[in-house]
Amino acid sequence: MSKHFGGGLSASLVCATVLLLWGTAHANDCNIGFLSSGWISPPGDLHIEKGQPWEMFCVLNTSHPDGQGGSYKNLSFYIDNKLAGEPTVKKYNETAIRLYVPVSQVSSNGPPHDFYGVTCKQNHVTGICVRHVYVGYPPQGVKDFQCTSYNWERLECVWLEPYNPIETTYALSYQVSLRSR
Ligand SMILES: *[C@@H]1O[C@H](CO)[C@@H](O)[C@H](O)[C@H]1NC(C)=O
Ligand SMILES: *[C@@H]1O[C@H](CO)[C@@H](O)[C@H](O)[C@H]1NC(C)=O
Ligand SMILES: *[C@@H]1O[C@H](CO)[C@@H](O)[C@H](O)[C@H]1NC(C)=O
Repeated sequence: MSKHFGGGLSASLVCATVLLLWGTAHANDCNIGFLSSGWISPPGDLHIEKGQPWEMFCVLNTSHPDGQGGSYKNLSFYIDNKLAGEPTVKKYNETAIRLYVPVSQVSSNGPPHDFYGVTCKQNHVTGICVRHVYVGYPPQGVKDFQCTSYNWERLECVWLEPYNPIETTYALSYQVSLRSR
């Protein structure tokens, strides 16, 4: 794989801008085009460094026709389709529960499903919201880095990127040393 420094940088800048707009424009981003009876905060998927804590809240919207009269007791979190009990999940307030993982582990699901699928359900049946939690490593160095120069006109580089559930953006830069030329 070979990459361009300039192209990669502008791509990630565009990406950051899009995510920022997305986060502010949608209070409930759980189901696009369909308002479910609650939501998970924070919005969007989580990207967590191994060993760090993470948390999520599931809130029942008691103004929603399907949420009226309900409480936190109607809510539950499932991680990879398994019910998460106490002490991982607890009552947060009358209409919300909190999922708290003090020390995150890398998912054992392996690529391309190397995330935790977190679902909040109402009465253990109705899905309110789904999130992916990616637990990964800090950016790692590449392996087997090799560059070939073709007549000083073209530089082709290849490298191996180590496994990481959190996608790492590698930027390639180069310098021309005048003395050795
Ligand atoms: C809660 O439900 C009401 C009624 O359906 C809706 O107008 C409101 O936008 C919902 N709130 C959120 C944050 O989704
Ligand atoms: C909440 O749970 C109770 C007891 O299971 C049930 O009777 C009620 O219909 C549920 N309400 C909502 C809004 O899901
Ligand atoms: C419960 O906590 C959630 C998440 O912070 C918040 O959105 C909601 O307004 C709270 N509800 C009450 C009744 O305090």
